[in-house]
Amino acid sequence: MHHFQYTDNRLHCEKVSVSEIAREVSTPFYLYSHATLCKHFRAFDSSFNEIKHLTCFSVKSNSNLAILRLFARQGSGADIVSGGELYRTLKAGIAPEKVVYSGVGKKTDDIEYALNSDILMFNVESPMEILRLNEVAGRLGKKARIAIRVNPDVDPKTHPYISTGLKENKFGIDIAEAPGQYAMAASLENIRVYGLSCHIGSQLTEVSPFVDALRKLKTLIAGLEASGIQINYLDVGGGLGITYDREQPPDPGQYARAIRAELKASDMTLILEPGRVIMGNAGILVTEVLYTKTTKEKKFFIVDAAMNDLLRPSLYNSYHSIWPVKKAGLKNVKADIVGPICESGDFFARDRDVALFEPGDLMAIMSAGAYGFSMSSNYNSRPRVCEVMVKEDRFYIIRQRESFQDLIKGEQIPDFLS
Ligand code: LLP
Repeated sequence: MHHFQYTDNRLHCEKVSVSEIAREVSTPFYLYSHATLCKHFRAFDSSFNEIKHLTCFSVKSNSNLAILRLFARQGSGADIVSGGELYRTLKAGIAPEKVVYSGVGKKTDDIEYALNSDILMFNVESPMEILRLNEVAGRLGKKARIAIRVNPDVDPKTHPYISTGLKENKFGIDIAEAPGQYAMAASLENIRVYGLSCHIGSQLTEVSPFVDALRKLKTLIAGLEASGIQINYLDVGGGLGITYDREQPPDPGQYARAIRAELKASDMTLILEPGRVIMGNAGILVTEVLYTKTTKEKKFFIVDAAMNDLLRPSLYNSYHSIWPVKKAGLKNVKADIVGPICESGDFFARDRDVALFEPGDLMAIMSAGAYGFSMSSNYNSRPRVCEVMVKEDRFYIIRQRESFQDLIKGEQIPDFLS
């Protein structure tokens, strides 16, 4: 599953000792395994070899340039949601004709940037957005290729914050209204209808919601084709879950088989937007224990990483395994693992059985490769941590740790205060 393993009781990433990297770059830091990333991408992408498809890595899950370059080399496209993500994607060398752009609130200047870059298509999420695209494309003398993102009202059975395909969610256009919107879009001068898209949520651990959604899409496509609207690209989004704790999600092969079974005779190009399933278990966050503290109620391990570095536990109460970087026959204790930020929500684990760490020990917060660094911030004026990639027996810094100067970059004191 991944290349983080113990050799002589010391955690290694591929052939490099994690403590050795910590000595060089200090803590906290994100650490990614090149071999794991390649293996995950290939396992996913090759599961769809039998059909025409394009894997568009979901840039929001991890947008580091080196990581995007690695996927570009593997032939990946990109699923983006902002002008900033488009910028990174193009800088990393992903071809614009492999880029799909989703999101309910695309800004006009980002739309212009994407049109001028000639991306494959916009996954549009509202009737107003279709009109906006038509107008902006007209102004630029371009045609905007679109897929309508439909909301199929399928329960993905995941955390409510990352469910997107239910009627009450802000995403997509109600599937019942889609035919009317397609007809409207097809009548517009500067719009070219290319596809249909859908993304029902993230961290799905069953295949059935994907299949339920796909069946609804197929019915819609048949109706559209009967009315003369051709769908060339079917984008089924991302969402395949991973094992953080004891979840047993379908593996990419099972997921692909279920989807392929539904699309047997189809001539469409399938688009997939995986993020977490490729990145999640290919990265960890390494942190050092600063202090231990025992109160009447609890034991705390206070570490040098915090919620600004990895927000997922605070935001979704999500589970990340905690591994000691050096196994020293430590006995286990029940403890909270918390960061230095001034909020009680700043934790990585609560009432967890973990090794009895001592100050100075290193801890690995597992499964942090997706939505880890990309959701990090400078809250509490904490410089963002560095990112490191291991390839075999070498490691490479792929993002420098920020400095205090970086923290105030762009800030200005107006004259009247000088
Ligand atoms: N496509 C679209 C349109 C999406 O909105 C997303 C994720 C993906 C693809 C990729 O989904 P994945 O394969 O990674 O599940 N911050 C949350 C996850 C938010 C996901 C948002 N959309 C977390 O840390 O769990």
